[in-house]
Amino acid sequence: MAFLTLVAADAAERTPVRISTDETDLILTIAPDGRLQQAYFGKRLANEADLAHLPYYNVQGSGAGGNAKSWEVYPGSGAQDYFEPAVAITHNDGNMTTVLAFVSSETKKIDGNVTETVLRLKDSVYPIEVALHYVAYGKENIIKTWSEILHREKKPVTIWRYASNMLYFESASYFLTEFSGDWANEVKMSSQELQFGKKIIETKLGSRAAMHAHPFFELGLDGIPEEDEGEVLMGTIGWTGNFQFTFEIDNNGDLRVLSGINPYASAYELKAGEVFRTPEFIFTLSYCGKGKASRDIHAWAREYRLKDGKGDRLTLLNNWEATGFNFDEAKLEGLMKEAKTLGVDMFLLDDGWFANKYPRANDRAGLGDWDATRNKLPGGVPHLVQAAKEAGVKFGIWIEPEMVNPKSELFEQHPDWVIRQPNRETYYFRNQLVLDLANPKVQNYVFGVVDNLMKENPDLAYFKWDCNSPITNIYSPYLKEKQNQLYIDHVRGVYNVFERVRERYPDLPMMLCSGGGARCDYEALKYFTEFWCSDNTDPVERLYIQWGFSQFFPTKSMAAHVTSWNKNTSIKFRTDVAMMCKLGFDISLKDMNEKELSYCKLAVANYNRLKDVILNGDFYRLVSPYETNHTVAMHVSGSKEKALLYVYDINPRYNEKLLPVKLQGLDASKTYKIEEINLTEGSRSRIGGNGKRFTGDYLMKMGLNVLTTNQTQSRIIELTQE
Ligand code: GLA
Repeated sequence: MAFLTLVAADAAERTPVRISTDETDLILTIAPDGRLQQAYFGKRLANEADLAHLPYYNVQGSGAGGNAKSWEVYPGSGAQDYFEPAVAITHNDGNMTTVLAFVSSETKKIDGNVTETVLRLKDSVYPIEVALHYVAYGKENIIKTWSEILHREKKPVTIWRYASNMLYFESASYFLTEFSGDWANEVKMSSQELQFGKKIIETKLGSRAAMHAHPFFELGLDGIPEEDEGEVLMGTIGWTGNFQFTFEIDNNGDLRVLSGINPYASAYELKAGEVFRTPEFIFTLSYCGKGKASRDIHAWAREYRLKDGKGDRLTLLNNWEATGFNFDEAKLEGLMKEAKTLGVDMFLLDDGWFANKYPRANDRAGLGDWDATRNKLPGGVPHLVQAAKEAGVKFGIWIEPEMVNPKSELFEQHPDWVIRQPNRETYYFRNQLVLDLANPKVQNYVFGVVDNLMKENPDLAYFKWDCNSPITNIYSPYLKEKQNQLYIDHVRGVYNVFERVRERYPDLPMMLCSGGGARCDYEALKYFTEFWCSDNTDPVERLYIQWGFSQFFPTKSMAAHVTSWNKNTSIKFRTDVAMMCKLGFDISLKDMNEKELSYCKLAVANYNRLKDVILNGDFYRLVSPYETNHTVAMHVSGSKEKALLYVYDINPRYNEKLLPVKLQGLDASKTYKIEEINLTEGSRSRIGGNGKRFTGDYLMKMGLNVLTTNQTQSRIIELTQE
């Protein structure tokens, strides 16, 4: 951040700032006292001249013609604002107030579709400078924003609030949808009306941070966020650690939404001249429901955020559900051949392959010692990579490099590399502890886990990077008396490692995993091609989990595996559920009969044939498992030439009334041939109209009769434009 010596702007320089996407305007103006105001946030205004009615739009500081209300964009603590501040600082003299005035702004085009605006603010009493960054993605209707805080006081200051962003809404009522959960129970969606005062969504888990609360939310203005109608803000924070969203309704019934790092136990000591950069808050405002908002976020993520966002994804066979820790070379080689038989691209070796002094035979030992267990895998990883090559598939491997079991050589050699109390009993989560990633030596070690494996095995094609424990025993030996920086410096340490891995191995696909889906944020996903949604692979549960995660993440980033969970359901149902995301298997073919295997092979072949629409198509959620006994969703290719309809009957009632499902996203003027695919051997389609042709208009207005009253049955329908 190139801070100059900032001088508060005089009246003539108080030019309003307009941050626009193709659909939305966020207009910031400057009050006569120099404070930056949110004067408008909503649908993009069509007439430039109308902007003059906004509060303080005129540089002379005169009020508004129409709506006179405005709110301070980044209020400091202890001055005029009575509610939760965006920034709070204890200065060298002990004073705890901060008042920021506008200094300047500049906007530059990053590319045709993207602009970045930087607003500079300063305190006129203390040498505190803040830069607010807004990057607007025109076509995708996304804004990402973050703040930078800097000071020039003599000694370090303590910053104890440091929001990424604050947004205000004035509406008759506000409804929040949040996403909570636990292991095997991720992204449970629930909605509530907000009332006076605060509602906070936050986590204090440090690592495996999103185990109980996911870092995103939906806010409905004047109604619960709906799929296809209503004004909805969707927001998410890119921070793989403690985050906090505060929704506060004030005495006037206005709502402020504050997003940032959770300041809990994290008053941060900032040296003079050092820039404190907050994580990015990424948001979109939709005027026709969350379906549109989701598609905008997905398009943005594929274009600008996910590692290899526009690229291909590897189908795979994983061995975790199939073998647990119980395998040897022969068993793995057998599974590699099964991967080939199935037709997937890769075999992924999971937990249990490493450590010698304390072999990883279960989850009580070995984490930290990343050498293959000699008596289990005598040929080491190179032999396995070679065996996979001979079987005709790629080879990927599981690691959990941020963690350590006390029963490990790493712990014996470096007890001071571990987050734990020096003077209290140690608490364990899954028998393990978290490495102290604030420590650069530990960062090097963790980077080395990937780097050494890659140096030894240049053909390693994939990593699954796990993180199973939250931070317990909050004490970093490295930070010594600065324990209040642990939660923040730890996450920065993790990013330092991710960054180095990406830099050295830019084309290496990687799965982000955290005891299931407890890491799922857009900062981590810069470095990962996909994430593991849940250890719960029961297909019925997965329909809810995929419904939840798809609100914010493109389905190509959501790893979904066919397993033996819920054997009451058919292999077709389990496979069809995984088909709509990034398909994998975690099941031994020995657990299938011939018919089931031939079904899976057919599904993989179809998946490969239709990869482009599945991985890169627009995603429409049509029938919700939360509201009905079914789930229906579809992908439509960018050109609208191809679409796939995924239909699941979960637990319909006897004689339940079934309505046709109206499709979305098709070209109304074109004709589509519909054809059920993924049919099991010997069965025929029971969908009325299978093989027939319909216009997009008809399919979107009249719909198709695709639901049934059968339990856990599925149908996948391919639509091809003619
Ligand atoms: C976590 C992951 C699983 C598996 C195990 C291995 O629970 O979510 O997929 O990798 O760890 O221990």
